[in-house]
Amino acid sequence: MNDDPDAFRRAADALAAAGWCVLPDLLPGVQTQALAAECRALHEARRLTPARVGAARTATPLRGDSTQWFQAGAMSAAQQAFMDRLDALRAALNRELMLGLVECEAHYAVYPPGAGYTRHLDRLRDSDARVVSAVFYLNADWQEADGGALRLYLEGGSHRDILPHAGSLLLFLSAQFEHEVLPATRNRMSIACWMRQRALGCRM
Ligand code: OGA
Ligand code: MN
Repeated sequence: MNDDPDAFRRAADALAAAGWCVLPDLLPGVQTQALAAECRALHEARRLTPARVGAARTATPLRGDSTQWFQAGAMSAAQQAFMDRLDALRAALNRELMLGLVECEAHYAVYPPGAGYTRHLDRLRDSDARVVSAVFYLNADWQEADGGALRLYLEGGSHRDILPHAGSLLLFLSAQFEHEVLPATRNRMSIACWMRQRALGCRM
């Protein structure tokens, strides 16, 4: 794990300069493995729900993942350890960048082979609450040939492909970066998270 006390400050600097960054080792390996085992078990027990887009009531061809939200008061030890670390990062971003982030939300996601998520922005149409998107990856031994990159579209028309390696956290500004999930050849597990500000005009 990256317990260098400056790691979060450097992430804040990168977020301020480029709008996105990758932290390669957010958690100790055993904690990442515990989250991966839990996500896999939930998936195998069919406890994940096909994801929807916006207010749609049914699963959509725009995204092929199944998800389960982390629920305050009902989190496993592994989930709690992850959320504690994410909250520490949120506090660091507030301190360094004065972003006014008040809370984090997170869900497990599993994309089965062939599933992706078409190009999109994480800001919901009716809310500006989501400020920072954070995606934590749970896949051991991921190879480039497995596919499943997160394609982040940058200003000027170029893009960067980020592979979903276990232990790495991708951070980017929710309002600024369109992105998509490319299909993979194996199950692809992640925790998708958003750091939220107290929103004006939020429905929830
Ligand atoms: C999302 C998303 C990316 C990923 O859930 O909005 O873009 O890499 N996920 O899982
Ligand atoms: Mn997204």
